[in-house]
Amino acid sequence: MTLPSGHPQPKCPRHVAIIMDGNGRWAEARGLPRSAGHKAGIDALRRAVRAASAAGVEVLSLYSFSTENWRRPKAEVAFLLSLLRRFIRQDVADLHAEGVRIRVIGARDDLEPSLVRLLAEAEQLTKANTGLTLVIAFNYGSQQELARAARKLAEQVAAGTLAPQDIDMARLGAALDTSDLPMVDLLIRTGGEQRISNFLLWQCAYAEFVFLNLFWPDFDAAAFDKALADFAGRDRRFGGLKARSA
Ligand code: FPP
Repeated sequence: MTLPSGHPQPKCPRHVAIIMDGNGRWAEARGLPRSAGHKAGIDALRRAVRAASAAGVEVLSLYSFSTENWRRPKAEVAFLLSLLRRFIRQDVADLHAEGVRIRVIGARDDLEPSLVRLLAEAEQLTKANTGLTLVIAFNYGSQQELARAARKLAEQVAAGTLAPQDIDMARLGAALDTSDLPMVDLLIRTGGEQRISNFLLWQCAYAEFVFLNLFWPDFDAAAFDKALADFAGRDRRFGGLKARSA
């Protein structure tokens, strides 16, 4: 792809996913409760949305609460749930004004009906926006998502509306929560750990990984740009031999 000037298009990932890790350690290092780290994490989340929009990224997926996070102490779980409510209530109007489309992925069954309604309203309000798509992964687990998709297809087979031989990658991809989204190009994880933690396993099949040695509340536009620069320097071959343009 080239720009009108004839220069090659700088390689910008279409879909960036972030594992926002290190809130607790950020707080503990300051002698603060873990909740203060999560609160500061919301400010970092806002910075990430702004930086992704400015860079021309199409989709930003944020791992906000995993299916495994229910194992945390009750008070911390309650705090994260209330933080999501507060974030949606406080920010949805601004995000809408900025043209951001909100999508929420993950299982809704274990969430309170009032929270499910709030999330659905935010999605509904912003669904026609054409700016950044902000994917909030909440009560999300990739293996659970794949199992849900397999069940959906099995139900169609049982109902006689789908033949087993018609199940292929496209069908399975279309049964996932992310059916309308491109594959992940760049996965960023803060907090110093180098693992994927059940986040977008299918969607990260050919993602480039960038691990940042900073706690999530310290994430800013400079860190985002550094990750993008790192990505731009990668040679993506998608299993082939020659580099493709992004
Ligand atoms: C990991 O930090 C972070 C999370 C469990 C979730 C990320 C949450 C936020 C950024 C704020 C909430 C956002 C929404 C939209 C509700 P950690 O607690 O595992 O940190 P640690 O590894 O240092 O303990």
